Amino acid sequence: MAQHYDVIVVGAGIAGLYTALNIHEHLRVLVLSKSTLAHCNSALAQGGIAAVLHESDTPQLHARDTLAAGNHRNNPDNVRLLTERGAAEIAELMRLGVAFDRMSDGELALGLEGGHSVRRIAHCKDSTGDAIMAALTARVRERANVTLCENAHLFRISRKHEQFIFNVVFSYYTTNKFVLPDDSCSNYETASRGHNAYYTTDTNKMQDFIANACVIATGGIGQVYERTTNSPIATGDGIRFAYELGARLSRLSWIQFHPTAFAAKEGTFLISEAVRGEGARLLNADSESFLHRYGASELSTRDVVSRCILDEISRQNSTSSNKKSDKIFLDISHKDSRFVKERFPQIYEKLLSNGYDMTVEAFPITPCQHYHMGGIAVNENGETSVAGLYAVGECSYTGVHGNNRLASNSLLEAVVFGRLTAASVSEYARSQSQSETEPPVAETAQSADCLCSIEGLAEEVRGIMQRLFFIRAEHEQIPDGLARIAQIKAQLEAADCLTAEHSDALSVATVAYLILQELHEENKG
Ligand code: SIN
Repeated sequence: MAQHYDVIVVGAGIAGLYTALNIHEHLRVLVLSKSTLAHCNSALAQGGIAAVLHESDTPQLHARDTLAAGNHRNNPDNVRLLTERGAAEIAELMRLGVAFDRMSDGELALGLEGGHSVRRIAHCKDSTGDAIMAALTARVRERANVTLCENAHLFRISRKHEQFIFNVVFSYYTTNKFVLPDDSCSNYETASRGHNAYYTTDTNKMQDFIANACVIATGGIGQVYERTTNSPIATGDGIRFAYELGARLSRLSWIQFHPTAFAAKEGTFLISEAVRGEGARLLNADSESFLHRYGASELSTRDVVSRCILDEISRQNSTSSNKKSDKIFLDISHKDSRFVKERFPQIYEKLLSNGYDMTVEAFPITPCQHYHMGGIAVNENGETSVAGLYAVGECSYTGVHGNNRLASNSLLEAVVFGRLTAASVSEYARSQSQSETEPPVAETAQSADCLCSIEGLAEEVRGIMQRLFFIRAEHEQIPDGLARIAQIKAQLEAADCLTAEHSDALSVATVAYLILQELHEENKG
């Protein structure tokens, strides 16, 4: 049997949780998290959250830096909202329990990153996202009107009689309230830990939900690439759902590549731009600084630095006999080692476990896909072109970032626009709950093992994207890549299996297809 809510928030990163917290308390809200909360992109955010927090700064200056980083392709009205409202949202986060780092005099310790003309980044060492997530999760779990459900893999949203139907496949999941009717939980174990009940269900257990309004907050699209700083769950599901619902999408090819990630055996991990902000220098294989060669500086923005790295690698390859000539390094070993360890404890430990002591030596870095500036087109209140459908955070396109996001503006966007979205969706859901709408009959999806062969399809898409559009677009090869991805997308759509793997592969193929299609159209035009 389908379960009804006023609002369903899809995604439980900072944007989803903050929106849920700000939705009117009389509305019943369900937050669906695809995996455990620890797996979302927000939990990986290191650098911090930018805002005007010092008397030497102003919203106008923050706006100027945001517009310059975004190459003036930003929406200036939304940039004004972002920069004027930032400080109030930081105060609210502190009230909710986030303990940002402070200096010995008790003032907030503010960090610096590329493109910022002053220090304005509030942080919790190098685990800011994790600290904000912990506070928001605790507050959400206290809220009687909000149910938070982890390991709930949504694979389709459809719309009927002005309501949204959500088909979810559960595996092991945790929730702060009972969601599944008892008979759907064979093998269930419950244990009381605070407000949580823990269940183990049969694999591929299906459950449908119905809501008057839907907020998509699914985060990034990193899994469309081989090399990404994103979480393994960042497959761009929200963009696929919005596309399938007919919502307008915008600027899907505006993708940010972070210049400094570390390619570890177990996968790539981010080296926060705050490391550059604290004085780290980029070096080539001959241990020379090189950014000046391309008219850039150590604190240039991510788009500029990523392009410089590609250019320096090809220059080294063509001129140097050095065996490491395809390598670029980051070096902060000239700074006080105690400071480095205290400011970047997570990065220090991760590098150490990969054989590098950042306090005494340079370490190799590589650019990686990091952030999606484009997405589901929304106005300042998170409203999409489909009535009752909202989007917030990285999956949305508010236009605040232009075509290159200023460092640490993403968490800020999530909270500033999370509050505005919550107000708007509350009003919509309340008006809907008062109007007489015919209750939709959810077509309960049947669990099915995937009999068709989807193995390798998502990997093939990632390989194509990595080759054709990584920092620079290979326009001549895009038509062939687009044609192959269109075939893969069609194959996955035709298969209609209801498994998490299939759903992820379909999202990856759909998002990749839309990105390449946009690039292709632009190049033709
Ligand atoms: C970083 O710490 O470099 C990432 C934070 C961000 O994406 O702004």
